Amino acid sequence: MFNQSFSLLCMAMMALLTGVCLGGSDSPRGVSLPFVFDLNAVCDPPCRHAGICIRNSTCLCSRGYEGETCQYANCEPKCKNGGECLRPGKCRCPPGLGGKYCEKVACDGGCWNGGECVAVNLQAKCICPSSWTGSKCQEAVCPQGCQNGGSCVAPGICSCPETWLGGACHIAVCKKPCLNGGKCVSPDKCRCRSPFSGPQCEYRKNLF
Ligand SMILES: *[C@@H]1O[C@H](CO)[C@@H](O)[C@H](O)[C@H]1NC(C)=O
Repeated sequence: MFNQSFSLLCMAMMALLTGVCLGGSDSPRGVSLPFVFDLNAVCDPPCRHAGICIRNSTCLCSRGYEGETCQYANCEPKCKNGGECLRPGKCRCPPGLGGKYCEKVACDGGCWNGGECVAVNLQAKCICPSSWTGSKCQEAVCPQGCQNGGSCVAPGICSCPETWLGGACHIAVCKKPCLNGGKCVSPDKCRCRSPFSGPQCEYRKNLF
């Protein structure tokens, strides 16, 4: 009974692979062939995914699987962007990634202003041109900074409150001009040169 099933199995294996079956004491030994099957071989834990136990603790894995007990599926081509190979040809993709091999990246809401959607650390992410920032590249970048309550509305362009001017909203506005060499230092505030004073530096102090 055992011998019969053994020879059947042996024939089946030899048909599949080039191998030699080691059954009883009269088995051929010392034959150098790619695979040597020991029918009494013990694989514990057992070979998975239809792998065959060919020697003690040695599994011969079926196509598409690898690992000591053939526990790992092997996707070819490989799953990209951190996708996990579930079974041959089937990848499980991280969120935001798709396609048969997780090669397609989708950024929720898209990337604006020329941003590019790429996978970074297993996540779909917009890579923005240097003049834009934010999760969707929706915020302009003003390298000069927008001071005094100004806001960056386009790359390098600040929108300033009425009382400030200039590329960075750094120049105060004095509605009435500062006279006699006085300087507008904050909205409607003149710093006067000696000997002048007054809101517009219009008065000359009497020094004597
Ligand atoms: C394989 O393992 C079994 C059980 O542990 C043992 O009886 C047998 O001798 C081993 N065979 C070889 C070829 O080492």
